[in-house]
Amino acid sequence: TSHIPVIAIDGPTASGKGTVAHRVADKLGFHYLDSGALYRLTALTALRRGTDLRDEHALAKLAEHLPCHFSNGEILLANENVTEQIRAEEVGNTASKIAVLPTVRHALVSLQLGFRKTPGLVADGRDMGTVIFPHAQLKVFLTASVPARAQRRYKQLIDKGFSANMEDLLMDLQARDERDTHRAIAPLVPAEGAHVLDTSAMTADVAVETVLKWYAAVAK
Ligand code: CDP
Ligand code: CDP
Repeated sequence: TSHIPVIAIDGPTASGKGTVAHRVADKLGFHYLDSGALYRLTALTALRRGTDLRDEHALAKLAEHLPCHFSNGEILLANENVTEQIRAEEVGNTASKIAVLPTVRHALVSLQLGFRKTPGLVADGRDMGTVIFPHAQLKVFLTASVPARAQRRYKQLIDKGFSANMEDLLMDLQARDERDTHRAIAPLVPAEGAHVLDTSAMTADVAVETVLKWYAAVAK
């Protein structure tokens, strides 16, 4: 599969990775991997089962045997549609906590590699360009200021019918940044050779066009 092109899009929470990666994949007719969803699915399963969040081995087992299925933008867990449920803040916060565990990260590697299929893949997350697809044809590090990201997340939650409080969101976002950038394994850093794109004052449309332009230059 090493000949199949991969575009890796990494960045902090609410920087627009999902939105941009999804649209780039659509434009190119590529597959799309939302790696964060795998951590969220593991978190949702653990929360439902009441798994001890310090029990690395139990969590890794859940991750390794996730009965998940992705089709047409819907995310199924053992045939239940959990697309919206996994976006809840509690699930995101739990995902960010269990994502520091090496056992959990290892358990999700082969599932992620399996998304690399012809004609190509756009993968978004924290370690797509550094760990999972280090030979990706294009690596992008998408970022935005803390206030811009908090505002985006706030709007998204309200639009989806969740309740949201700006002060809590800012605190959660900073705590998540802290954990993502300071964990010992697969910390959030721009991969070597990554193009950094700060979208604080940029629409998603312009971000998508920029990534497509970069890809066109390397795909030649
Ligand atoms: O929406 P947000 O960017 O907050 O999160 P996400 O991409 O859905 O991922 C949920 C959590 O999983 C993040 O807070 C990360 O800590 C973790 N994650 C990770 O460690 N590695 C990845 N490749 C993707 C997500
Ligand atoms: O995946 P990640 O957590 O990085 O972000 P997301 O779920 O794609 O959320 C980003 C939100 O900000 C979406 O509602 C986008 O419409 C909006 N947005 C963006 O993605 N990019 C911009 N340049 C501006 C806004």
